[in-house]
Amino acid sequence: MERVVVSLGGSVLVPGDGDAPYLSHLAETLADLSSSVKIFAVTGGGKIARFYIETGRALGARERRLDELGIEITRMNARLLGIALGKAANAEPAKTYTEASRLARRHPIVLMGGTAPGWTTDRVAASLARVVRADRLVNATSVDGVYSEDPKSNPFARRFERITHKELIDLMGAGHERAGPAIVFDPVAARVISQASIPLLVVDGRDLAALRGAILGEPFHGTTVTG
Ligand code: UTP
Repeated sequence: MERVVVSLGGSVLVPGDGDAPYLSHLAETLADLSSSVKIFAVTGGGKIARFYIETGRALGARERRLDELGIEITRMNARLLGIALGKAANAEPAKTYTEASRLARRHPIVLMGGTAPGWTTDRVAASLARVVRADRLVNATSVDGVYSEDPKSNPFARRFERITHKELIDLMGAGHERAGPAIVFDPVAARVISQASIPLLVVDGRDLAALRGAILGEPFHGTTVTG
């Protein structure tokens, strides 16, 4: 069975807009696909993580403590998706890649949040994809692919249908400096999948038809990143 890691952005999972119906439909889709592919879902923190991080920062916390807050929220989001998935997934999110690999023997879908301070869940997803030798990594995010510029600030930004890992690395630039930024794919994660030659498929996570196509490796609306 093919193995697919899905990085589910917090902004997709819990934007505070019809979250329960979306999570329920997402869970149905993932459960349905899990009879064809082994799914590893890594959940992001989104605006709830940002709220905790900003509040902690205003209180004078160091970056590491802020990251710890963020990690807890990513795990809370994994639990929330776990509630929607019921028996199809582990209720307690995996904390390590070894644990995720082990859980994959018992569960059709494996849920995982963040791991180490200073990381993002995209980076966790990329490393997990390398460890489990995933056939592809799907980034379910809040935009429908990789654009030439931020489509939210420039309406004339162009969406790419297909780019190389190298082009993605160049587009994503230098990377994260502080806890809580929002970009389409973590640049360090882009390097990890480039070195491991794992294809990356970027989709709008709220578009379940696109997500389904990307997970199955079939045509989908979004961007395909390959070597
Ligand atoms: P993420 O950044 O990965 O979720 O984790 P997200 O990207 O907000 O979801 P979207 O895509 O924007 O909606 C949130 C924060 O949690 C900490 C970091 O501070 C990160 O910014 N974190 C997360 C870690 O320190 N380590 C991890 O492994 C994961």
